[in-house]
Amino acid sequence: MSDPAPPSDPPKKLYIETVGCQMNVLDSELVVAQLRREGYELTDDLRQADTILYNTCSVRQHAEDKVYSALGRIKRLKDRKPEVRIGVLGCMAQKDQERILRRAPHVDLVVGPGQLGRVSELLQASQDEGRPQLAVSLARNAGKTLEVLDSFPTFDPDRVASPEPTPQGSSPHQAFVRIQMGCDKFCTYCIVPSVRGPEQGRPPDLIVEEARRLVGQGVKELTLLGQTVNSYKYKHGDGRISRLSDVLLALHDLDGLLRLKFVTNFPLDMTDDLLQAVRDLPKASRYLHVPAQSGCDAVLKRMKRLYTVTQYDEMMARIRETIPGVAVSSDFIVGFCGETEESFRKTVELVERSRFKNSFIFKYSPRAGTKADERFADDVPEADKKRRNTELLAVQTAISLEDNRPFVGRTVEVLVEGPSKTAGKRNEADPDASSSASGVSQMTGRTSCDRIVVFDGHRRQAGHLLPVVIEQVSAVTLFGRVVTTDSHPAPAPAPSPEAALR
Ligand code: SAH
Ligand code: SF4
Ligand code: F3S
Repeated sequence: MSDPAPPSDPPKKLYIETVGCQMNVLDSELVVAQLRREGYELTDDLRQADTILYNTCSVRQHAEDKVYSALGRIKRLKDRKPEVRIGVLGCMAQKDQERILRRAPHVDLVVGPGQLGRVSELLQASQDEGRPQLAVSLARNAGKTLEVLDSFPTFDPDRVASPEPTPQGSSPHQAFVRIQMGCDKFCTYCIVPSVRGPEQGRPPDLIVEEARRLVGQGVKELTLLGQTVNSYKYKHGDGRISRLSDVLLALHDLDGLLRLKFVTNFPLDMTDDLLQAVRDLPKASRYLHVPAQSGCDAVLKRMKRLYTVTQYDEMMARIRETIPGVAVSSDFIVGFCGETEESFRKTVELVERSRFKNSFIFKYSPRAGTKADERFADDVPEADKKRRNTELLAVQTAISLEDNRPFVGRTVEVLVEGPSKTAGKRNEADPDASSSASGVSQMTGRTSCDRIVVFDGHRRQAGHLLPVVIEQVSAVTLFGRVVTTDSHPAPAPAPSPEAALR
């Protein structure tokens, strides 16, 4: 806190829940930083809270249902304590706007993702004026491009200006940095371009400045965020264009930084300069998330993904050829409008030949306001969506396990994140393994190729690179033991491109 509250004025308590993607996690972080500057403290107990915020997601119906039922549950609390401020932030706020206030009249604040810099001011206004505050950005077709862009101002610089450390993510050594806002791809099923606004690349200088600040605060791993992060472009005043590969190059030199990642990639924009940067920069994680969505051309066309299956296959070949030891992961939507059993088979085949490290598989969820919802019938029965989801996941899980097996016996370099949240999983696989002894905890981290590694270690190892020899694997986790310097020579501090470590 920069401004400690005076003793007569006890700190206000903030409860915040976040659903959705990494963008939302970062947004919540920035909102928390903003309110901390106003003297708020975080609480994880709803009943203690003066302010309750939900940072929401609209990508699938399920994500919205979760928030609406949470709002229903806290109505009683608001009846008892009317002074409690309740806010709905993020993508669902932008999508549903005053409908949220009609459905949940006890809400005080509805703030779209483009207006989050105003949360603290709006909280105050709702209190002073005694009525709900709505702050949303312009709809994509509600004005000239520049006006719409202006209605999505960035509030990331708040973090740069923040005097207190604001490292975030699952460990204080990891941080997200937004390099791109919005999306211009308009895949027909997707709500993101309408709720997050037009694509805008942030100026490289600001990205580097923010990254330098975070690394100075002890962050070891940066994940650059954009909905189509590899489409990132920034046009400088003199006409020069900076691409994602240029940003990676600029960040790579930051002293103290150990790893650099970026999500999410759009298949058509996976250019050679980017692949070569990942190959040549030792700190770049050898991991790419490039959603395919479907393995059938007819479905991809209805989704307006702009590429064919052949183009996706060619991209995969190029990735594997350029970056030895790379891991690729993907997203799929099953049961999209018009997806036949035959089209689904093609998706299964794509998963089989692509050998993704993992895939996120979603059942198609129609979103009001999208082209798919307007044009196509949601004609795949729920039971078929479920079956296809389960089947595709089983195919992927078998591949993940198969591709993890060769790691047994290999020494990998792990960037340690912190104590493992899945402690106990190993004991299921090996009931004799003891999970804790004095001072020893089950720790987790990732390889450069983004595989999760669990091992017995110490909390103080968080934020360090350690050699770990792998002894067991599951489809999602490698289990191992830290290689001690007396029995094995330690590897070089940073992975070199030639290193066999993956
Ligand atoms: N910008 C990223 C991710 C967007 S949302 C990208 O383009 O890859 C994350 C994932 O949610 C998408 O990749 C897609 O698989 C899924 N998704 C998006 N809209 C959906 C919908 N209407 N129903 C089901 N899944 C959806
Ligand atoms: Fe949605 Fe497509 Fe944009 Fe990803 S690229 S956010 S799936 S519209
Ligand atoms: Fe959801 Fe918004 Fe992210 S809709 S997936 S939180 S951009």
